[in-house]
Amino acid sequence: MNGIDWQKEDLNYIWHPCSQMKDYIDLPPIIIERGEGINLYDIEGKCYKDVVSSWWCNLLGHCNPKISARLKKQADTLEHVIFANFSHKGIIELCMRLSKVMPHGLKKFNFSDNGSSSVEMAMKMSFQYFQQTGQTQKTRFMALSDAYHGETIAALSAGDCDLYTKIYKPILMDIIRIKAPDCYRCPYNKTRDNCDCECFSDCIKQFEKYGNVTAGFLIEPLLQGSAGMKIYPPLYLKKLRQICDKYNVHIIADEIATGFYRTGKFFAFDHAKTSPDIMCISKGLTGGYMPMAAVVTNDKIYDAFFDEYKTKKAFMHSHTYAGNPLGASCALAVLDILDEGKIQKHLEAVTPYFNALIKEKFLNLKNTGEVRSIGLINAIEIVLDKNKKQSFDPSLRLGYQIYKKALKKGVLLRPLGDVIYFNPPLIIEKKDMDFVVKTAYDCTIETLKENGF
Ligand SMILES: Cc1ncc(COP(=O)(O)O)c(C=O)c1O
Repeated sequence: MNGIDWQKEDLNYIWHPCSQMKDYIDLPPIIIERGEGINLYDIEGKCYKDVVSSWWCNLLGHCNPKISARLKKQADTLEHVIFANFSHKGIIELCMRLSKVMPHGLKKFNFSDNGSSSVEMAMKMSFQYFQQTGQTQKTRFMALSDAYHGETIAALSAGDCDLYTKIYKPILMDIIRIKAPDCYRCPYNKTRDNCDCECFSDCIKQFEKYGNVTAGFLIEPLLQGSAGMKIYPPLYLKKLRQICDKYNVHIIADEIATGFYRTGKFFAFDHAKTSPDIMCISKGLTGGYMPMAAVVTNDKIYDAFFDEYKTKKAFMHSHTYAGNPLGASCALAVLDILDEGKIQKHLEAVTPYFNALIKEKFLNLKNTGEVRSIGLINAIEIVLDKNKKQSFDPSLRLGYQIYKKALKKGVLLRPLGDVIYFNPPLIIEKKDMDFVVKTAYDCTIETLKENGF
């Protein structure tokens, strides 16, 4: 199709996700033609360094030759098959291999095609478990303030970011909200590396009140991504495990964003050396190639659904693309690459460099409130007043201004409010780190100056 104005036609037809479409008048959609490593190239040949891994899903670089090869082969063999009563070798091998790296006890896999669906599925699974094990009073769910678990109704209910949830409140579920750890603005004046999770006291209070009627506690382990890459210590998860055991509440770990070495270990939960009862995985699972998610649980939960058909205990939940062979082939290629061990070695070599580089560049800036990191994920929260930890007026949209400037310079950042962050594909090299950090820094300085700060 020659002679087409792609940007114009995009806007004629497409309603983009998570966007005020009026913003596109100023900043039309960038039409990407190809990707390679951390680079995305538009139709004019301009390169963008994708340091947000295209919504945190691209794990091992765009058009990774090994993943692409396995996907191409799979496309010529079997593209899809109904997953009720039918199966295929790829998905079986995937579960056999994943079960070896899952936190202890998690070995039954139930597939869907996106993170939000897997959260819905996990909630239904937890609820139904208690309904058919004689604990019918357990109908509620708990989740942290500032949480993000996706956009479908139950997942959105579990979330607590006003930007996504506020208007829908009248149609959302009533979730028991636990005050999340806030290590930057710690009300106990402690630091992340030196505390006893005093903030867990709110959790204890809510369990005393609602523990007996609660089925599951949804949590983004260690990293509240959409809240602004807020990081809290593993001790919180250990305490959560103890209290959930006491009150017989399932921990539903949402590792959609944190799985697959994003936090430096295979799963964020591994830092706490304990296991959830149910875990949701997606994004990095297929290296960001194909939409696939899984809810992974233990035998105890699985067994509560296993009975004669007439007992109606089956989990009657399905998605058309559950267990899709193309997704499975990509996920297997991801495991092949991770099994080689080179990625882990690379991470050991470059992570301290990246974290130190960002700290060195940003910590001296008068408006840097906090620089926080976990694995390769690094976030810089810029604030109006460093001493008071006072945020900028959100209507200034400083993060968005930084985003637009960085795009011009060829870096795809996507600040969350005034939190500038990096969550790049794990294969990022030092020279790209130098470039993207310098660009982010320059754009931040320019933006602050232009706004009179
Ligand atoms: C922690 C977390 N949970 C759930 C989701 C929703 O996943 P999806 O966008 O695939 O529905 C996301 C997406 O960013 C996420 O970060």
